Amino acid sequence: MRRVAVLGLQYGDEGKGRIVMELAKNAGVCARFNGGPNAGHTVESAGLKWVTHQVPTGAMIKGCIGVLGRGMVIDAVKLEKEMRDLGLGRNDVKIDPCAHAILARHVGIDAETEQSRLSKIGTTLTGNGPCYSDKAFRRGFRIKDLLKEIKISSPAGEALTRIGAPWTTSEEINDLLRKTRNVLIEGAHGFGLDLDFGDYPNVTSSACGIGGVCSGLGMDPRSIDHVMGVIKPYTTRVGAGAMPKEYPEEEAEIIRKSGHEFGSTTGRPRRIASLDLNWIKRACEINGVNSLAVTHMDVAFDLDYVLINDFRNDVHKVRPDSLHGIIEETVGVPIELEGFGPDNKALRRNHEIRVW
Ligand code: IMP
Ligand code: MG
Repeated sequence: MRRVAVLGLQYGDEGKGRIVMELAKNAGVCARFNGGPNAGHTVESAGLKWVTHQVPTGAMIKGCIGVLGRGMVIDAVKLEKEMRDLGLGRNDVKIDPCAHAILARHVGIDAETEQSRLSKIGTTLTGNGPCYSDKAFRRGFRIKDLLKEIKISSPAGEALTRIGAPWTTSEEINDLLRKTRNVLIEGAHGFGLDLDFGDYPNVTSSACGIGGVCSGLGMDPRSIDHVMGVIKPYTTRVGAGAMPKEYPEEEAEIIRKSGHEFGSTTGRPRRIASLDLNWIKRACEINGVNSLAVTHMDVAFDLDYVLINDFRNDVHKVRPDSLHGIIEETVGVPIELEGFGPDNKALRRNHEIRVW
């Protein structure tokens, strides 16, 4: 029985989807605890490429059920389309009926609020923040409220009926998470976008760290055996907010091209900056990270030098081939997986650590 959580430690887009796909091969359940359609996990495998937003990426593996936890906010209309595009059916997912529903008005409010802000956050305009606001304001609709009032037809209610997932209860989901042999927990966004620990207000509206795992899924914190933190050897951001030292445009362009650094939900070009090891060390401490997965290492090798922030926050230029050692030494956490390209063979594993 193993419970493994995979969390992004930067500003999202660390390549969690890729790592989750690898680990989900041994999991019976892959569960999401936060966020909704604002997330975007791009996965390439066997020449195919797809993007998941609300469906846990691991659900793409045969024999692995995707759980959409109660800490999520779900846009049923988009979920129906996403499942159809991914070729998933009603038995591939379980949705916690206590998750909140994103309605058309949430998407409208997201756009209006963003428009009227003097300094923009650059949200994904998917209604995420307004839906979580309604939840906290205690006037939101949960999936089960929509199902009950499905006769009052709404696009979200109708989509839910068409998805026709075998409706389950929160208790059944907790049982499933307790009794399944291997459970993989898939974080969305990254700890830099966490509502409490990110640089507020340029954050998302959910808990992106280990605390969100426990509250968003209803898991006993003692049952989590391993926390894997996912990073890439540079920092990217799509929206507004603080960044470590940004790369000169010439290098940024190389990284953007070779790392496909354009938003998977919005298509916006991502800003590119130094690898902030000072922040990653802190994120590892707060989240109890046991091992690291570093994706996009091949992108670092396309550069002559890589920018890093050390534990004093001083910026240095270092050679790409010295990165592995510098990361482990500065952060104090071993690297378990290293991605050198989309191909499966390009994923190097440290066999001394095993999550499963
Ligand atoms: P929201 O989550 O749509 O409200 O957006 C808030 C901030 O989080 C914006 O800066 C978004 O660009 C950013 N954001 C939200 N989800 C993701 C993600 O999955 N990857 C990268 N950035 C994200
Ligand atoms: Mg993404």
